[in-house]
Amino acid sequence: MARITAGVATSHVPAIGAAIDNGKTDSDYWAPLFKGYEFSKQWIAENPPDVVFLVYNDHASAFSLDLVPTFALMCGEDFKPADEGWGPRPVPDVQGHPDLAWHIMQSVVQDNFDLTMVNEIDVDHGLTVPLSLMFGQPEKWPCRVIPFAVNVVLYPPPSGQRCYDLGKAIGRAVESFDEDLNVQIWGTGGMSHQLQSERAGLINKEFDEDFLERIVNDPAGLAQMPHIDYLRLAGSEGIELVMWLIMRGALGDKVKQLHRFYHVPASNTAVGHLILENSEK
Ligand code: DHB
Ligand code: FE
Repeated sequence: MARITAGVATSHVPAIGAAIDNGKTDSDYWAPLFKGYEFSKQWIAENPPDVVFLVYNDHASAFSLDLVPTFALMCGEDFKPADEGWGPRPVPDVQGHPDLAWHIMQSVVQDNFDLTMVNEIDVDHGLTVPLSLMFGQPEKWPCRVIPFAVNVVLYPPPSGQRCYDLGKAIGRAVESFDEDLNVQIWGTGGMSHQLQSERAGLINKEFDEDFLERIVNDPAGLAQMPHIDYLRLAGSEGIELVMWLIMRGALGDKVKQLHRFYHVPASNTAVGHLILENSEK
């Protein structure tokens, strides 16, 4: 059977992708950020997944404001990097896993979560920057990736509780797939940041550190935090953190924290990163 062996959480700031693509990772500004991912690159090389179920948000790159699904599961064969205004990133296309994706679709929909079915889509920095942070610059991504998009752009976003419960349903779905696959689940976005309006540039280190602690040890309590608290305490784009709760819900109650990293700033954002081993599997 397929197993979810680990969860990864990471911010997905587009400037990180630009730093990698333009050979600036050793600069004074970027070196401390990339140092926080050295452990992760080694760990994933030693623990290679067959499939990554990658929870991210589209930033009005593929979905225009004409059509915004709350939850969208990508069931296609492959996905190209999106053109976000300065050309697509020079990274490989993503190879999907249609059989597992359709299995998750039928399981999760029958488990009472209504997902949008997507066969073709381009993927933006929300998905490609985490891949670059974990895998560097390979010719080809070393595993299959199932993209899963969450609306955190257009009000109203889904609640933390909904995301946490959905993660549990995704976990049940993966573990009922009749093929021996090592599956990781990644949650991306966050941490505190606000890109717009009077509070642009907001960072809340205390909030972020508390979130890092609770997502590991008190996810059920953290899931109860209402949307307005993300907005007030972590800034308007801090709501991206609800995606980490999907990742956490798909893991068992007990996890082992293998790596934790926090860095301020990268562009306008506080960067957080976790690697959690699923101890129950
Ligand atoms: C930034 C962060 C994001 O999460 C994003 O999607 C876009 C920009 C930033 O800090 O610049
Ligand atoms: Fe974002």
